[in-house]
Amino acid sequence: MKSLILGIESSCDECSASVVLHENTSKSSRLEVLSLAIYSQIPLHQPYGGVVPEVASRNHLESIQPMIDQAIREAKINWQDLSAVAVTNRPGLVGALLVGVSTAKSLAYALQKPLIPVHHLEGHIASIFLDAPAPKIEFPMLVAVVSGGHTNLYVMKTYPELWPLDFLSRSCVARSRDDAAGEAFDKIAKLLGFSYPGGAWIDRKAIEGKGKINAFAFPRALPQKSVPDFSFSGLKTAAALQAEKLRKSGELESRLSDFCASVQEAIVDVLILKIGLAIQNHGCQSLAIVGGVSANSRLRARLVEDGPRIGLQTEPIFPQMKYATDNAAMIAAVGAYRFRQGHALQGEKLLTISAHAHPET
Ligand code: KG4
Ligand code: ZN
Repeated sequence: MKSLILGIESSCDECSASVVLHENTSKSSRLEVLSLAIYSQIPLHQPYGGVVPEVASRNHLESIQPMIDQAIREAKINWQDLSAVAVTNRPGLVGALLVGVSTAKSLAYALQKPLIPVHHLEGHIASIFLDAPAPKIEFPMLVAVVSGGHTNLYVMKTYPELWPLDFLSRSCVARSRDDAAGEAFDKIAKLLGFSYPGGAWIDRKAIEGKGKINAFAFPRALPQKSVPDFSFSGLKTAAALQAEKLRKSGELESRLSDFCASVQEAIVDVLILKIGLAIQNHGCQSLAIVGGVSANSRLRARLVEDGPRIGLQTEPIFPQMKYATDNAAMIAAVGAYRFRQGHALQGEKLLTISAHAHPET
C-alpha cells in the first residue's frame, strides 16, 4: 500500500514542508523523501543570541506557504495526490506552532484530506527511518532524543508502525532536570562569543584547533548515580567562570579550541554514562541517537568506540545528517504511520486540533 503525506513543521526556528512516500507491505515499510523545503530563521535570531518567539511566529507566517508550494512542486505531485497532511502540534513555541497548525487545518479542510497532529519528538525518532534501508534493530532499543529543548531517553519495543498513541509518555525512562544538552552547548557557545546556535560552532572549533579533551577539568554532573536523569546547569556555570578567568588573563582566544574540546567532552561523557546506565537498567541491545545534538562529531565517534563497553550488541543508529536537525520529513514520517493506524481526523473534526507548548496537556 502506498500513501503520500505532506508534513509541516514550525515548532521553533525552522519553517519546513516535505512530501514523503510511504510504501508498506506485510513484510516491509519504506519512507522515501520526495521533497524537503526548509527555511532556516537562524540568521534572523543570531543578533539576539537565541530564538525570539515573536520574531519566529511572524516569520513563519511569511514563509510557510512558499515552503509548502515548493515541497509540492519538487515532489512533482498534485494537491489531490496527497493521502493526508501531518503537522507538528506539540511541543514548541506556541505562536510558531499555531502558524503551522492553522495552515495545515485550512489546507486539509479545503482539500478534504485527513489531518494528523504529530508530536515533534516522535518525529525526531522517526528520522532514523527516512530514506534508508530499515536499520538493524534488536528490541528493546534505547532512543536518546538530544536536542535544543530535550534530553530524553525512551525504551522502544516495536517499530513505529505499532506505536500506541501514548508511546512517548509510556516509554520515557529519563530526562534532563534542567538545561537540555543542546541548550548547554548553545549557552556556553554564547558566552564564548559564538553566534546562535552554538553546538555546531563548539564541535567545529574543537576539531579545527585539535583541542585537548582534558585541557580543562569541567564537572560531570550525575544527579543520582543509579538514575539516568541528566543535569547540565552546573557545567554551564563552571564554563562561565573558566571563560571569565581566561578572558582576564588574555588567553581565551589562544585556548579556545582546548576549551571547546573539554566542554564538549564533559557533555558527551555525561550523555554516554547515563545512556549506558539506561541500557543496563532496561536490557537494551540497540541504541539510536536523534535530535540536533546527534550531529555532534565527537558524540558519534565516542558512541561507536564505547558501544560494546556500554552493552550494545549492534552499531549505534543515527539519522542522516540532513534529518538530524528540525525538518518536516520526519513529521510526515510519523504522519504516515498514524495514517496507516487510522489516527487521522477528517472534516469538521480536524478543526479541533490545537497547538500545545508542552509535551503533554
Ligand atoms: O533538534 P533541533 O534542530 O531543534 C530542537 O528540537 O531543539 O536541535 C537544535 C540543537 C541546538 O541546541 C544546536 O546547538 C544543536 O542542536 N546542535 C549541535 C550540533 N549541531 C546542532 N550540538 C552539538 N554539536 C553539533 N554538531
Ligand atoms: Zn527538534
